[in-house]
Amino acid sequence: MPMVVRDPALPERVTIYEVGPRDGLQNESAIVPLAAKAEFIARLVAAGLPIVEATSFVHPRWVPQLAAAAELVAQLPLDGPTPLPVLVPNERGLDRALEAGCTHIAIFGSATETFAQKNLNSTLDGQFAMFEPVVARAREAGLDVRAYVSMCFGDPWEGAVPIEQVVAAGSRLLDLGASQLSLGDTIGVGTAAHVGALIDGFGAAGVGVERLAMHFHDTYGQALANAHAALRHGITTFDASAGGLGGCPYAESATGNLATEDLVWMLTGLGIYHGVDLAALVETSVWMAGVL
Ligand code: HMG
Ligand code: MG
Repeated sequence: MPMVVRDPALPERVTIYEVGPRDGLQNESAIVPLAAKAEFIARLVAAGLPIVEATSFVHPRWVPQLAAAAELVAQLPLDGPTPLPVLVPNERGLDRALEAGCTHIAIFGSATETFAQKNLNSTLDGQFAMFEPVVARAREAGLDVRAYVSMCFGDPWEGAVPIEQVVAAGSRLLDLGASQLSLGDTIGVGTAAHVGALIDGFGAAGVGVERLAMHFHDTYGQALANAHAALRHGITTFDASAGGLGGCPYAESATGNLATEDLVWMLTGLGIYHGVDLAALVETSVWMAGVL
């Protein structure tokens, strides 16, 4: 383990939001058997990950890797202490998630017109209309709702994405009633000062760091540097994927997520509490690499 040298300017504890079973497996060419998916999630929970995104209730033709979502969820301890959120794009997805007994969902919007089209078959404006009844009905049913914004730092079709455009999209998702906003660098093009500027942009619009999470992809090796920059801006929730699995099948050049192991190593060295057993996590990722 790294020597612990605490930086008093950084937060004392961080929540790692594990996305391996969803963002990781959705981008693998292999379809992982149901039992192995359930075991993956159970092992991540046992390794101390405080929240593990389990799967997606999207159209099975769009993401065949996660098709048997209800069958998977039926095998999970939904009433346990670790929330196991699922992605839900529309009311059909919400119906399926409610039927399966899910207690935490995540909607996923885009900051750009092109990606809304490619990922959701919707316009940018249309996505909010699609999410509105989802969030309202989910909240009414007592579910927790997280919201992702994709393409926060750049878009493979549109190029650089202005900070105001990201803040506008994110604020609209929060206004619908989401409890937390996860800012996605879907294609991994962001760099450290850009991260700070985006967080400041949300702050100027009245969205504090306590409502934000950061979701980095490691395409250009920037994910950990960006996470450090976000820590310096007071962010305390980070998405990460065991073994660095992942990407997005609808975003050209989206490669692996920030590896949970790398994040845990850095946080440990900085003396920031995270609650994850690194050895158990590494064993889990090595085992999943074998499955794949
Ligand atoms: P669509 O084709 O426009 O759907 O897809 P539709 O509303 O026109 O419905 C067509 C048919 O699909 C209907 O069936 C619906 O019932 C069915 P039919 O009447 O023809 O028999 N349908 C569904 N079936 C099951 N589950 C559903 C569902 N919805 C409709 N939920 C849709 C629109 C949103 C469904 C589609 O675009 C979709 O599933 N997209 C998901 C794409 C996806 O999962 N992408 C990856 C996740 S996002 C990501 O990775 C980024 C993130 O990690 C953050 C970051 O890195 O930036 C989160
Ligand atoms: Mg992602």
